[in-house]
Amino acid sequence: MDEKTLDDVISRYDSPSGRLLGILGEIQNREGYVPRDALEMLSAKLDVRLSQLYGLVTFYSFFSLKPVGDHVITVCMGTACHVRGAVEVLAALEQLLGIEDEATQDGKFSVTTEDNRFTLEIARCFGACSMAPVVEIDGNLYGYVTPETLPGILGNYGWRES
Ligand code: FES
Repeated sequence: MDEKTLDDVISRYDSPSGRLLGILGEIQNREGYVPRDALEMLSAKLDVRLSQLYGLVTFYSFFSLKPVGDHVITVCMGTACHVRGAVEVLAALEQLLGIEDEATQDGKFSVTTEDNRFTLEIARCFGACSMAPVVEIDGNLYGYVTPETLPGILGNYGWRES
């Protein structure tokens, strides 16, 4: 995000230092994530500590500190899904997408494939426990997921076995 665009975002708020979440949300919406240089500029312009901005961005799951892929896959790791195979589903997804084990960023599990096509995340309960284990892709819920059904599901989003 360039400085002029950031100034434009900030100028819409009467009291910018009290509207950090709104400004950060607008950066996230415009860029698809919150770039580090935008945080640094925001910190300097509003005289807010960079650590405070990082604290907000890492606390709220809406924000991401790096670009997300074209398709976002979220595996539910809530209790019902966990006991019915979510760990195996997550491991299978990591393998199918070629994502490194246990990759984490800033306390969140959010990993994007090198080609930027898929981002893999985890969440706690979609409120669809009767269909556990549950995976959400781009807002679509899939229930009773198993490692065996994943290739067919991912195929709907352009994934092909390499
Ligand atoms: S625990 Fe997974 S949907 Fe509720």
